[in-house]
Amino acid sequence: MHTEKIIEENKQGKPLVTENNEGNDKKLFIESYGCQMNMSDSEIVASILAKEGFNTTQKLEDADLVLVNTCSIRDNAEQTVRKRLQYYNSVKRVNPSMKVGVLGCMAERLKSKFLDEEKIVDLVVGPDAYRDLPNLVEEVEAGRDAINVILSKEETYADVSPVRLQSNGVSAFVSITRGCDNMCTFCVVPFTRGRERSRDPKSIIEEIRDLKQKNFKEVTLLGQNVDSYLWYGGGLKKDFKKASEIAKSTAVDFAQLLDLCATEFPKIRFRFSTSNPQDMSLDVLHTMAKHENICKYIHLPVQSGSTKVLQRMNRQHTREEYMELVDNIRKIIPECSLSQDMITGFCGETEEDHQDTLSLMEYVKYDFGFMFAYSERPGTLAAKKFEDDVPLEVKKRRLAEVIALQQEHSHYRTKQHLGKVEEVLIEGTSKKNENEWKGRNTQNTVVVFPKEHYKLGDFVNVKIDSCTSATLIGTAVGYSKNN
Ligand code: SAH
Ligand code: F3S
Repeated sequence: MHTEKIIEENKQGKPLVTENNEGNDKKLFIESYGCQMNMSDSEIVASILAKEGFNTTQKLEDADLVLVNTCSIRDNAEQTVRKRLQYYNSVKRVNPSMKVGVLGCMAERLKSKFLDEEKIVDLVVGPDAYRDLPNLVEEVEAGRDAINVILSKEETYADVSPVRLQSNGVSAFVSITRGCDNMCTFCVVPFTRGRERSRDPKSIIEEIRDLKQKNFKEVTLLGQNVDSYLWYGGGLKKDFKKASEIAKSTAVDFAQLLDLCATEFPKIRFRFSTSNPQDMSLDVLHTMAKHENICKYIHLPVQSGSTKVLQRMNRQHTREEYMELVDNIRKIIPECSLSQDMITGFCGETEEDHQDTLSLMEYVKYDFGFMFAYSERPGTLAAKKFEDDVPLEVKKRRLAEVIALQQEHSHYRTKQHLGKVEEVLIEGTSKKNENEWKGRNTQNTVVVFPKEHYKLGDFVNVKIDSCTSATLIGTAVGYSKNN
């Protein structure tokens, strides 16, 4: 089972460091919780503050400014951040000049409540307001509380060149859309991240060109819902209907953007996340099949295998339509791996609905999964309209069953790789053995193998000798042709 996305379970968020600018004398400690978008946003924040005289530090105790980029997706994500704030408070007692700021989804959701409730917070900045940080930090340095949580119709940070924080120098994230218009009833994201808008393909290509020059080998295109990417000159996705005929006829959709990226940078490996099944087109699948450098992996959250529950969640597809999409994926890209997000114990979920989830999983046999017990979020449609009526023990029991089944399927999937030779991009040293490299194959499965003479960032062909349910273990047989 992959857990990289479930970062809220970490005690400490990802602390971020970067190369430092000479002449900058203020110290910024910034850590991120939650999704990859938050990691990517923290890189934008570091870039904006570098111009204000801040270098990043990994030592919280040394910091003049501490920023925590937060997640609201489930209650325990918020609780983790609250505990972290208490810890900052203890450091602040020793170092009273240290300023503390909350960024991201909790900032947006709780707004000024933070300044009132959590006395240690000096600064509250929502996901679309990072450009205002220089002013806000100035306010805070003058001893005043500062807040900006205005969501934007336009902001995409297209022209901010992110400082790559604690990067392995091999793989990077590039944001292509912000916000989400889907209004899944359980989800807080549309409220904390605002309406959906797409970024100019030119600025996406420029960012990738810059990454290539810096020797990066893999780019993940990021958005809450990448398949609904649509550039028509700017503005909200929902206003596309009102755009001029010229804007409509020259619009770029996600399949076209993928094609553009993969053609322009044949040596870069592309991934993308996340795909909402309702927006995934056959064009995207054909584009993936056409380009060797687009990884054969789709994260395709489904949340439930019951059409009734899907409807209550306001997901715009049935169980059968999802299965049809999976069939099409298997037909067009036979080697494609799939992963899911699943929620157990959503409002009104019966035992029969739960069985539908298990049987859908049997049908797909996902390679990986990210599974959660439903956590009611204040202000969402589900919180307003439905009763959170599945008892916690039942949610947890169903979750355990879903996780156990996923583990079985993950093992089934990793076994399919045995004996094959697969291209792996080396991303770092294996956590378990410093004499082994770790990387991923096109299907996003982690592969470890002896280092020999290979280097970080090499594309290597690896023969898969054995496996666990999460990892392939192999031996390199030479460089791949893409190296
Ligand atoms: N489109 C997004 C989804 C963000 S939320 C993306 O980029 O991944 C990630 C996952 O968290 C969702 O797919 C869902 O499975 C889970 N989730 C969201 N709200 C939740 C809630 N209220 N309770 C439990 N899980 C939730
Ligand atoms: Fe949330 Fe649904 Fe959008 S899960 S991020 S509202 S696609």
